[in-house]
Amino acid sequence: MASIKISDRIYWVGAKDPSLRVFDLYVKTTYGTTYNSYLITGDKVALIDAVKDGFEGQFFEAIAEILPIEKIDYLVVNHNEPDHSGAIIELLRRNPRIQIVCSKPAVPFLRNVINDDARPIEGVKGGDKLDLGGISLEFMTAPFMHWPDTMFTYCPERKVLFPCDGYAAHLCPDDSMYAKVGDPVLEHEAWYYYDCIMRPFAPFSRKASEAVLQREIAVVAPSHGPINADQPKHFIQKYLEWTAPKIKSDKKALAIFVASSYGNTKAMADAIAAAIPSDRFDVHLVDAMEVTQERARDIIEAADGILFGTPTFAGDVVKPIWDIAHLLPSVSATGKKAAAFGSYGWGGQAPEILEGYLEQLKLKVFKPGAKARLVPSLAELDECRAFGRAFSEFVLG
Ligand SMILES: Cc1cc2nc3c(=O)[nH]c(=O)nc-3n(C[C@H](O)[C@H](O)[C@H](O)COP(=O)(O)O)c2cc1C
Ligand SMILES: [Fe+2]
Ligand SMILES: [Fe+2]
Repeated sequence: MASIKISDRIYWVGAKDPSLRVFDLYVKTTYGTTYNSYLITGDKVALIDAVKDGFEGQFFEAIAEILPIEKIDYLVVNHNEPDHSGAIIELLRRNPRIQIVCSKPAVPFLRNVINDDARPIEGVKGGDKLDLGGISLEFMTAPFMHWPDTMFTYCPERKVLFPCDGYAAHLCPDDSMYAKVGDPVLEHEAWYYYDCIMRPFAPFSRKASEAVLQREIAVVAPSHGPINADQPKHFIQKYLEWTAPKIKSDKKALAIFVASSYGNTKAMADAIAAAIPSDRFDVHLVDAMEVTQERARDIIEAADGILFGTPTFAGDVVKPIWDIAHLLPSVSATGKKAAAFGSYGWGGQAPEILEGYLEQLKLKVFKPGAKARLVPSLAELDECRAFGRAFSEFVLG
């Protein structure tokens, strides 16, 4: 059996990819993955999500066990990433009658996947329903979980949630497709999946998880890894834990990451830190050479304001500071306030280079950054203190 019945009129018809070792170029898939698709067989037939290009064989074989592909009336596209949309082109070639249903933001995405302007694509909004006759589907928007197009689909009659990449894990079970909550491998892979794929959009995951938790749910049927009928809300609750603020304080959090070879930029950082009003801020002065990547990500995520202290080396930002800055896209940092400063010997362009990068990542950048030529003079340290005060105002404002 290539297909699996998961509830009355609902079947898993996905594909297994046990040998995949890297997903999306950066996610380790130690245990391979699955591309889950679900067939809902009311009087009308809907397919929820497709599979990756190259896996059509397993996919069509699984569907054919339940009914001929020609019988499918609707394709619900929860998300357009190619691991779920790749096989759509071949599916439509085999059954051109299929009507596509997706979120409104997904319509232009899907146009660029199928590259067929003539085909109608129906954009739905949260709360819209699709009555299949004997069973129905309801759509829930879940933007940025993890693309702008993402939505969840819910079957009210069977209380099955199809959250696409939400609450998923890269695992390719060789026996049961059902989750055993508490299994250490599943628990770790679900966390790692969140950490790599959902964490950059943590507030969005939190909002969608809060909303979905209000529903009655008997089964969570994600797009990768096992189906959870054991404790269906387990990973939804975990997402609320994982998206909760890691550093709790009434004050604003201000992080200063600094790298300094001879102590010049560090002296600037100390002057800046001393000028930040301690009644309003918790200041985290962090040595970029010492901090672990994990700790740096937590600090960035919790920070309201982030300062980067970098000397200029060979016309550039120094590597330990680039390494920290390159963690920004891996957590939710968009919209945070930021600035750069540093000591230099001649060109001194490192702060400006970093400012440009921070602006591209859509942080709000306070400019100009503070600079000191070689060993900071008393006047330059005064400027650092003024810079620290001005940046605090910027964060509070
Ligand atoms: C390997 C190396 C390369 C450097 N390249 C530049 C440079 O391209 N432009 C510049 O303004 N200063 C350059 N400098 C000078 C440093 O920015 C300057 O010594 C600064 O005060 C070091 O600050 P720190 O003690 O915080 O590391 C370079 C220094 C070193 C050691
Ligand atoms: Fe995805
Ligand atoms: Fe996916």
